[in-house]
Amino acid sequence: MSHIDILVATTSGNTEYLADQLSDQLIAAGHTTELHYEPDYQQLMTGDPAIWLCCIASHGAGDYADSMLDFAEQLSAQQPHLPLLRYAVIAVGDSNYDTYCAAGRDCDERLQQAGATRLVSRLEIDMATDDPEQKSTDWLRSFIAAL
Ligand SMILES: Cc1cc2nc3c(=O)[nH]c(=O)nc-3n(C[C@H](O)[C@H](O)[C@H](O)COP(=O)(O)O)c2cc1C
Repeated sequence: MSHIDILVATTSGNTEYLADQLSDQLIAAGHTTELHYEPDYQQLMTGDPAIWLCCIASHGAGDYADSMLDFAEQLSAQQPHLPLLRYAVIAVGDSNYDTYCAAGRDCDERLQQAGATRLVSRLEIDMATDDPEQKSTDWLRSFIAAL
């Protein structure tokens, strides 16, 4: 049994809905979760062992969606060292934008730079073509297997 902090970057709610569903599936698989709809940088940066599932929608010109803008700014400015963190990223976007999934890709890169361990490869969900629930449910199996 693991505890998973689910960090959510959303503006219009799609990613929040997706994160809720993934949380339910993790709980059904015997894990515990905490959903962070507006992730608090100080609260999460404890330096203790942790597992993050980052569900990140891109907005603007490849920016993080509103609910995680503050967190992303601090992550970029403070460049923390997070060797005890294990994580995975689900990047949500729309391939009609040149900056497709840019925020999720940025998050993945920054956590790598922080020395965190990526549990499974980043999932990218294209809202223009994909079925988000199906795709994320399939991916979650490999995430759970890696815990
Ligand atoms: C104003 C606006 C800007 C967007 N910019 C991007 C972008 O730069 N890159 C991308 O991949 N998707 C972009 N998208 C698509 C969103 O990521 C997509 O609609 C997603 O489902 C929004 O998730 P949310 O409802 O959780 O905020 C944009 C959408 C809007 C409405």
